Amino acid sequence: MPNPSTRPARKAVIPVAGMGTRFLPATKAVPKELLPVVDRPALQYIVEEAARAGLPEVLMVTGRGKAAIEDFFDRAPELETALEKKGDDGRLAAVHESTEVAQVHFVRQGEARGLGHAVLQAAAFVGDEPFAVLLGDDLIDARDHLLEQMLAVQAEHGGSVIALLDVGRENIDKYGAVAVEPTDDGGDVVAVTGLVEKPPVDEAPSSLAIIGRYVLAPEVFDVLRETAPGRGGEIQLTDALATLVERGEPVHGVVFGGRRYDTGDKLDYLKAVIRLAAERDDLGPALRGWLRDFVTELPPEGASPS
Ligand code: G1P
Repeated sequence: MPNPSTRPARKAVIPVAGMGTRFLPATKAVPKELLPVVDRPALQYIVEEAARAGLPEVLMVTGRGKAAIEDFFDRAPELETALEKKGDDGRLAAVHESTEVAQVHFVRQGEARGLGHAVLQAAAFVGDEPFAVLLGDDLIDARDHLLEQMLAVQAEHGGSVIALLDVGRENIDKYGAVAVEPTDDGGDVVAVTGLVEKPPVDEAPSSLAIIGRYVLAPEVFDVLRETAPGRGGEIQLTDALATLVERGEPVHGVVFGGRRYDTGDKLDYLKAVIRLAAERDDLGPALRGWLRDFVTELPPEGASPS
């Protein structure tokens, strides 16, 4: 029997029960995870990232008002027949892509009791092996292999691994913050020695924030069951990880230096759409040309646009 902690992670958990209040009124009837980034829902990028990293089994933790997400990852026979009749192979392939990228499963959270509680709903699906958690608001550029690196660190050290980003002290109160020490692995792999969820700026252990990628040891489930509500009255994954650190379980961090967009933030969402569209072969040339003209015509800061 292989030791469970040495099994490679094969499964990904994506919590999608959040209400998306930052994008109201758009998210009154459309889940925020389905808002398009160019022409694909933000969530499709996340599922593709998991599949690319070798995690073809995906569990989405959903809630009320999220049925459209299940439809999106399901087959659409009428639509497929209509596209087939028209001979529209390109669009047919795009429709198939969303169902074929991974094996997507669903579980309902029931009550919105926090990220830790959402992750706990995945216990039966995950079983006794390490697994990844990907948060839908964080879009990592496909050219930056953050999750692959985290999985490699987990395979080497066991325990859990979290993705970190230096967000500057002034922004740390919006994130889980960590205290770290260097490791022999080199600059971007650190040992996590403490974690605190959304601390006041002057109490933060560093300016390193947790961003939405985790590779977790299955022991986290037992800890989550015992974790009392923390910041915001919610069961926090950060608090469960802090308990693992206190118990001497290995928790490593990978400090990310690549491209990340917070698609839950309106300005970052717009930047993601523009940057990804500008880099595409079909839209890029025309968009880049238009952007150059648009920027030259922009009124100076402080003047009102005509
Ligand atoms: C969650 C986590 C937080 C983390 C953040 C990353 O917070 O609780 O530790 O830094 O995701 O996006 P949320 O953004 O759901 O409030």
